[in-house]
Amino acid sequence: MPKIRVEPSGIEFAANDGDTLMDAAHEAGYYWPTTCGGQAICTTCATVVIEGREHLDDMGRGERRALEEGRGPAGPKHFRLGCQARVHGGDVVVRKPGVGPIKIS
Ligand code: FES
Repeated sequence: MPKIRVEPSGIEFAANDGDTLMDAAHEAGYYWPTTCGGQAICTTCATVVIEGREHLDDMGRGERRALEEGRGPAGPKHFRLGCQARVHGGDVVVRKPGVGPIKIS
């Protein structure tokens, strides 16, 4: 089962093959920043992949368009959307401030 590590917090959790980064975080009880709820619109979920880029699926048109519009022309080169990037076959390390335990009040 692939493992995701999130910097700078150092949080680690497992992902089912084919999970998005955000879905894997939610399944493990962690919040992943979002304002559109995972619809590839807001880019709030954007993350820098530090290691294991080869273990994420290829970027789709919707993800590419959202990153170009939200993060500029170089956005797709530097970021992946946590709500769209799916994990396949190996571990991934990302940088995403704001990922943490889901707080229930
Ligand atoms: S959560 Fe809005 S683009 Fe991913």
